[in-house]
Amino acid sequence: MNSEPTIAVVGATGLVGQEMLAVIEQLKTPFSEVRALASSNSAGSELELGSDQIEVQELREDSFDGIDIALFATSAELSAKYVPLATKAGAIAIDNSSYFRMHDGIPLIVPEVNAHILKRSDTVIANPNCSTIQLTLVLDQIRKLSALKRVVVSTYQSVSGAGQAAMDELWNQSLNIFNQREIEIENFSDQIAFNCIPQIDTILENGYTKEEFKIINESRKILGLPNLNITSTSVRVPVFHSHAESVNVETESEIIIPDLIKALEGAKGIEVFAEHDRYPMQIHAAGGDSVQVGRIRKDVSLNFGLDLWIVADNLRKGAALNAVQIANHLIEKFAD
Ligand SMILES: NC(=O)c1ccc[n+]([C@@H]2O[C@H](COP(=O)([O-])OP(=O)(O)OC[C@H]3O[C@@H](n4cnc5c(N)ncnc54)[C@H](OP(=O)(O)O)[C@@H]3O)[C@@H](O)[C@H]2O)c1
Repeated sequence: MNSEPTIAVVGATGLVGQEMLAVIEQLKTPFSEVRALASSNSAGSELELGSDQIEVQELREDSFDGIDIALFATSAELSAKYVPLATKAGAIAIDNSSYFRMHDGIPLIVPEVNAHILKRSDTVIANPNCSTIQLTLVLDQIRKLSALKRVVVSTYQSVSGAGQAAMDELWNQSLNIFNQREIEIENFSDQIAFNCIPQIDTILENGYTKEEFKIINESRKILGLPNLNITSTSVRVPVFHSHAESVNVETESEIIIPDLIKALEGAKGIEVFAEHDRYPMQIHAAGGDSVQVGRIRKDVSLNFGLDLWIVADNLRKGAALNAVQIANHLIEKFAD
């Protein structure tokens, strides 16, 4: 690969796509060209790339000519169609959608946890689900101190996780409720303003939601623990940015809390709130890069158990930052 690659951002006008442009600039990702691609509705509009403006082009079958790295921030349906076209044109695709994540032979990467499995020959790399990224970063540190016996995670996920239209819906519903007007429900199963909805994505036959099973299956794949006992409940909360998680972990042997805090403090990408009366919160994590961990304590109901509270910005470490970190890793490791 070229040490100054040509990069396409597909879905550049969306929440994740715009954040990708910002992160490319902030991480000083080397490039010779950044091509912003979106639907025909956005073609001709301009987006910021640092101090420059780049013109959005319509995504077409020949959009990937001359592209080295294609960062996809589009729906699963669009990724299914256009990722193969990108790789056929010679690009490496890093896909944010759920489409390729559980495909055999496609690496699912959180750089701090498993970038070492990436090979020069990989042409499609999947970026995990936002809730899974922040969870696995912390579980990876815990499992270095003791094998994991069981994980129980309950998420409190912001509306930006469902895209721009979902953010607009929380905003409009809140305004309309304050003004005693009717509200419209389009992106959620129920009113999201002043309410928590215990359903993210569709409900499966076994009663879980698809989102909950993404967390279960993707955590097992990233950690390389196919039989990990893990269960999840995902809840959409009326918060604009960042996902929070209440996480209970049972381990095979005892972990001393100061040892865990030391391990987390030494880990790349993690910020620890060690004092009991200071804790991470969604409003403070928003816009930041770290996965924040607090409320760290022993679970009094188990011999070897831990309770933690994990918060991260779903658009940054949960999506754009993680994807651009993967791109940077590829450039560093495989550029000619
Ligand atoms: N939001 C998160 O926290 C998060 C986290 C992890 C993963 N993801 C995944 O990342 C992907 C993008 O999410 P998002 O939240 O950024 O969504 P979004 O805000 O709705 O943006 C969607 C993007 O797709 C483009 N698009 C839509 N239809 C298109 C078409 N026919 N041709 C070309 N481009 C088209 C849109 O372009 P126009 O503006 O021109 O319509 C826009 O740029 C999804 O797969 C999502 O599941 C999201």
